Amino acid sequence: MIKLLLLSALFSHAAEAPTSLQKDAALFQAKCAKCHTIGRGDRVGPDLKGLSERREKAWIIGFITRTGFYLDNDAEAKKLLAKFNGVRMEDTGLSEAQAAALLSYLDAASKGPVGPEEAPEPEAEDPAAKVRMPAEGRGAWLPGIAAGLVCLALAVGVWQLGFPLSAAVLLVLAAGAGYWSLGGRRHHRLLGDQQGYAPAQPIDYSHATHAGKLKIDCLYCHYGAARSDVAGVPPASVCMGCHNAVRKTAGATEPSAEIAKLVAAWDTRLSSAPAAIEWNRIHDLPDFVHFSHRAHVANDIRCQECHGPVQDMARVRQASSLSMGWCVNCHRQEKSVAPSHWKRTGGPLDCAACHW
Ligand code: HEC
Ligand code: HEC
Ligand code: HEC
Ligand code: HEC
Ligand code: HEC
Ligand code: HEC
Repeated sequence: MIKLLLLSALFSHAAEAPTSLQKDAALFQAKCAKCHTIGRGDRVGPDLKGLSERREKAWIIGFITRTGFYLDNDAEAKKLLAKFNGVRMEDTGLSEAQAAALLSYLDAASKGPVGPEEAPEPEAEDPAAKVRMPAEGRGAWLPGIAAGLVCLALAVGVWQLGFPLSAAVLLVLAAGAGYWSLGGRRHHRLLGDQQGYAPAQPIDYSHATHAGKLKIDCLYCHYGAARSDVAGVPPASVCMGCHNAVRKTAGATEPSAEIAKLVAAWDTRLSSAPAAIEWNRIHDLPDFVHFSHRAHVANDIRCQECHGPVQDMARVRQASSLSMGWCVNCHRQEKSVAPSHWKRTGGPLDCAACHW
């Protein structure tokens, strides 16, 4: 009997292991976190920190359980809708009891981190700020302009001295220098060097909107980068997690034609000929080079260090040359020069590490 009691005590203890707060934290992560934060600012929807202090409990529960009805009929909800660019929060499918439990979690999390999932974020400094950006092939602006002006001045001088042929040669040189300064280097580089390449995409998707303004984490979409060699471009299902609800851009009255293309492709997913979105590949190493994202990302090298400030790009462009010299230069960095956020310094220099 005593054994039985002990046993049942043990079991009930085991069943308690994930506390209800932790379960609600998991529910929040799964259903709400892609649009809301608790104390880290507005995202697609408002920051939910201190929600109970600004709204009645009944209103909150009502809003969470009957979102569509509130957005159509409730004055406060309509104000929110206007403030958040007409982006409608989707129906949550939660019961009142679940919503009440989530609210207790929100109250607890508003006061401080709850459980391991809510480990305090490193303060939201801009990760790109401490990253050295790759030099982009802008051409030799200043030297180019200087050389152009010198040639021009010389040409004028030589002309006045009565040497028209030399003046003509100098004029051609001046024009060449001008072309160079305007970024001619972009077109004159080693074969296969695609630095600056920025093709148009089938859907006018913007990183400046998603990774910049909405601050969606790179790994939310490019989850492969932390786990495998390839970063991967997200499938439409990742986009539709939000775009099921979001059909307009900020301030627009009409649904966005670009989002409509996404939805149209998605709507064919169950048909006999599902339409794939054919994103144009931008970064592409030759097949004889081996590169792994995981090895670099796990080493805390920021995406921006190799890809530039993607969160500011309306259209992705290749910011680095991806040449062998570029890889090797970074692999050669010693501890003293390496940015402090590296866990380890340098990378392999032997040919077989990259060619196999
Ligand atoms: C697709 C994005 C999205 C998801 C997912 C989402 N919300 Fe929202 N939420 C919004 C937006 C946007 C608003 C502002 C009202 C509007 O425009 O619809 C909002 C508003 C709210 C508000 C009112 C906040 C205030 O300041 O008064 C609450 C409460 C809320 N959401 C709770 C939740 C909860 C809980 C979940 C998860 C079960 C959730 N939301 C999931 C987008 C979302
Ligand atoms: C909402 C999803 C989403 C987020 C968040 C996101 N991306 Fe992307 N990314 C895409 C899609 C879709 C493409 C393909 C279309 C394009 O190139 O714009 C892409 C393309 C890219 C490419 C070019 C791929 C190629 O073909 O070479 C790079 C590099 C990239 N993303 C880096 C980043 C970085 C760095 C971040 C974080 C600052 C980020 N992405 C955040 C969806 C996302
Ligand atoms: C976490 C939510 C979320 C995800 C995931 C997401 N989007 Fe968006 N997207 C938005 C919101 C919100 C807007 C409106 C932003 C605005 O106008 O301020 C938007 C706007 C857009 C637009 C309108 C033009 C623009 O960029 O401003 C396009 C096109 C688009 N998204 C495509 C995509 C594609 C393709 C994916 C998947 C690779 C994706 N979105 C994933 C929330 C999301
Ligand atoms: C050490 C430099 C480096 C870092 C750090 C890095 N990348 Fe890349 N990325 C590359 C190179 C090189 C390629 C081309 C790979 C190829 O062609 O095999 C590439 C290709 C890509 C592509 C398109 C091809 C693919 O692999 O799917 C995407 C998307 C991408 N990177 C996103 C990211 C994101 C997101 C991060 C941060 C989480 C990141 N990268 C971090 C160097 C880097
Ligand atoms: C911004 C700096 C940086 C750039 C640029 C860079 N790497 Fe690396 N790479 C590193 C570091 C640091 C390591 C060491 C990682 C470790 O020890 O875990 C590394 C490791 C590697 C490894 C060994 C991976 C493993 O599994 O241990 C390979 C292969 C590699 N890099 C290939 C490349 C190639 C190819 C390029 C160019 C296309 C490149 N890297 C560009 C910093 C860089
Ligand atoms: C850190 C990675 C890395 C290491 C180490 C490395 N390479 Fe490379 N190698 C590359 C990349 C990336 C390219 C592709 C360059 C391009 O497309 O412009 C390349 C290209 C080449 C090419 C083709 C010619 C060219 O320049 O495009 C040869 C040959 C070559 N490597 C030989 C070697 C030899 C020999 C070694 C050892 C001494 C070596 N590589 C070590 C990354 C590496």
